[in-house]
Amino acid sequence: MRKKIVAGNWKMNTTPAEGVELAKGIVALKGEVCPSVSFIVAPPFTHLTEVMNVIKGSGIALAAQNCAAEAKGAYTGEVSARMIASIGAEYVILGHSERREYYGETSETLNKKMVQVFENGLSPIYCVGEKLEEREAGKHFDVVRAQIEEVIFKLTPEQFEKTVIAYEPVWAIGTGKTATADQAQEIHAFIRGVLAEKFGAKAENTAILYGGSAKPSNAAELFAKADVDGGLIGGASRVAADFIAIGKGF
Ligand code: 13P
Repeated sequence: MRKKIVAGNWKMNTTPAEGVELAKGIVALKGEVCPSVSFIVAPPFTHLTEVMNVIKGSGIALAAQNCAAEAKGAYTGEVSARMIASIGAEYVILGHSERREYYGETSETLNKKMVQVFENGLSPIYCVGEKLEEREAGKHFDVVRAQIEEVIFKLTPEQFEKTVIAYEPVWAIGTGKTATADQAQEIHAFIRGVLAEKFGAKAENTAILYGGSAKPSNAAELFAKADVDGGLIGGASRVAADFIAIGKGF
C-alpha cells in the first residue's frame, strides 16, 4: 500500500509570523481529511522551528526546501542536513527545477546532498521534470530517466525505500497550466517502470507526487490515476483551506 502524500512547498514566501498563521490554519482544518493522507509542509529555513512548534503532535510532517551538500564547516550561507534534522524535520526537497535552473544544481551536487540527507536520518523528496521545449521535442521521457538514473540509481535499496519522488513538469510550475491527468499518469507510470529496473518490486511502494499548478479543482482527477500518489503543491499550499481541499481530492 503506497502512502498518499500532499506536500506544500512554500518556496521563498511568508515571514515567520505569516508561516505560523498558515501552519495553524492547516492544523485546524486537517481533521476534515481522511487520516490515510499524509501532509508535509516545507517552510523557508528561517521559520522551520516555529512551524515545527505549531505542527508538533498534529501528524503533519516538516520538510526543508534544500540542504547543504557538505556536512559542516566554512560554507557561509548554507544550512546542513544535521541542522534540519535537529529541528525535527523529516524530509528535504532535493532537485527542484528552480534549484537546478537558478542555482546550477547538477546531479553531482544532488548526489552529495543525498548522502547528507540519509546520514542524518532524513528522507528526500526528489524532484524531476522536463522543460517545455523538451516536452515539445518529445524528450521528456529521456530527461526524466536521466534525472532518476544519475541520482536515484546511486541509492542503496534501504535509502530508496525512504525516498519520495515528485514529477514536476517545469512548464506547469506556477503557470496555471496543469499537466492533464492522462499526461501525469503516463509519465508517473514511466517513472515507476524506470525505478523498477533498478529496485524491482520496491518501486511499487514508492510515492510519486505530481507538482505544477495543482489545486483543489484538479486534485481529484489527478489523484484518481493509478500512479499519482499525491501532490507537491506550490501556490495553493499557502492558503490553508486550499491545501486541505487538495487533500480531500483522494
Ligand atoms: P505551483 O503549485 O505553484 O505550480 O508550484 C509547484 C511546485 O513547484 C512545487 O514544488
